[in-house]
Amino acid sequence: MQALLLLGDSWYGALDGGISSARWQSQFEEMYPADVFACPAYSIPGNHDYQRWPDSKVVAELEYARVGKTSAGPTRWTMPSLWYRFEFPAKLPLITCLALDSNMPYADGTTSHGRDFTLTPQQQTEQLAWLEAELQRQRTTPFLAVMGHHPIYSDGPHGDHHVLIRDWDPLFRKYNVHLYLAGHDHDLQHLEFENHPTSFFLSGGGGADLYNLKVDQSQRGPYAQKVYGFSHLSVTERQIALRHLDSNGRILHGFTKTPDGKVKLLN
Ligand SMILES: [Fe+2]
Repeated sequence: MQALLLLGDSWYGALDGGISSARWQSQFEEMYPADVFACPAYSIPGNHDYQRWPDSKVVAELEYARVGKTSAGPTRWTMPSLWYRFEFPAKLPLITCLALDSNMPYADGTTSHGRDFTLTPQQQTEQLAWLEAELQRQRTTPFLAVMGHHPIYSDGPHGDHHVLIRDWDPLFRKYNVHLYLAGHDHDLQHLEFENHPTSFFLSGGGGADLYNLKVDQSQRGPYAQKVYGFSHLSVTERQIALRHLDSNGRILHGFTKTPDGKVKLLN
């Protein structure tokens, strides 16, 4: 295993004590045992992380990444900033990932609703400029992925995200992003659009209550299912392979994609 990709909403409910909370041990360090996942766990903030409960859980996540220690040494929890770039595998990287913060200011223009809050408009603008600069950078890996908690397109109840469609989607088209990884809706999805270079892959069936889909996969797919599960990404120089698996490890859906963007379904 080269990397764990955590797609946000890492903490529902209170994170009492911030980085001192016992939940770090039981619901991260032990839930993903280090002997199985001896790799960095790249994390991005979801809307449930953007809560002051009692204090900002996002601030605790950034701090835990900086100072978190376990009996085996430093934590694998990796979140150097709200948005950042990484590549893996560590030796001879094959995929570049741009990890983004999709917590956009609310539609009413505010950035705070009770204990929930969002990026500021200034951070939103800074991140967008950073994203384009990173997309323009010379890349040594055959594949390019972006990850953000909120889906840009979703067949689930949260639906399509109009701000991300306006701000991010044109950049994905322009710079041929291979893959967008999201969570947020409590289901598993894989959406393709004609003449769009990006595959939209949503893995949100991690344990919280499942949601009914709003759009059937026969209308917009190839795949959307209300099911608990997790997802696997493997990468070689010639292709990436993505799979959705149910909670028993049975493969539900999969596809491969080549560097020039050809998608092939596996089942
Ligand atoms: Fe969410």
